[in-house]
Amino acid sequence: MEWVKGFYKKQSDFLKDCYLSEVDDFAKEKVSIIEKMVNKKNINILDLGAGGGQNAIAMSLNGYSVTMIELLEEFTAHAEKLAKQYNQDLTIIQGDFYKVKLDQTFDLVTYWDGFGIGTDEEQRLLFKRIASWIKKDGIVLIEVYTPWYAGYSEGKEMSFGDVKRKYGFDPLNSRWLDSWWKVGDEEQVINQSLRCYSPADFKLMIEGTGLTLDKIEPCLQYDGGERLYPGIEKLGKSITYLAKMIKV
Ligand SMILES: C[S@@+](CC[C@H](N)C(=O)[O-])C[C@H]1O[C@@H](n2cnc3c(N)ncnc32)[C@H](O)[C@@H]1O
Repeated sequence: MEWVKGFYKKQSDFLKDCYLSEVDDFAKEKVSIIEKMVNKKNINILDLGAGGGQNAIAMSLNGYSVTMIELLEEFTAHAEKLAKQYNQDLTIIQGDFYKVKLDQTFDLVTYWDGFGIGTDEEQRLLFKRIASWIKKDGIVLIEVYTPWYAGYSEGKEMSFGDVKRKYGFDPLNSRWLDSWWKVGDEEQVINQSLRCYSPADFKLMIEGTGLTLDKIEPCLQYDGGERLYPGIEKLGKSITYLAKMIKV
């Protein structure tokens, strides 16, 4: 997973600091998802791979007590700035969720956009860690990429000013491939590879981690700022779904 830090830093530079933005409606949507799927008041939340902290601040603004973990220092520095700006008291940890030690347990663990960077074995290791971080009746919400959207998107290109993005798909390993480069500088391409799981495969992958699948909810239907399949909230058309897990 050596590519992770370099990829997100460069992607953020390419997209003019996309991870260093304000708390937008997209972040606020996360609160309605939590209300719909968790429906518990006065809970504490651990947000993993939290980027610039927009979702964490949106959750904190809604009265939840939030801790966030993020690998990149620049992103946690931005989260600190947002926390001051919105006068929110949350715990911001710069670190690796595969290594960090936490001295607290949580009612809810979230991971929005980004799950699947590792191998199945690494994913299982993360879930074992998460199982140890949640309370007895704790809940985990993970946004998972679907193989059907990744397969459909293969070859699709997008432009963001002078930056280009192209999707690929590795059907043997069910991994979504995502390449970015600056026009005229094609040799400096950056790539990410994300494991995509159908709910049936996800269920098998988490076996033995201490977590079990409770519910699936279709989630992201936007791509490159464009809303896909307007008005359709179908799992079979979604880019991602939310896997709600509980302790075994
Ligand atoms: C696609 S971004 C999503 C950020 C945020 N969740 C959002 O929805 O805007 C994924 C984030 O996960 C972070 N990340 C990846 N691996 C991580 C790790 N091992 N520990 C902590 N953060 C990690 C990356 O640095 C990146 O900021």
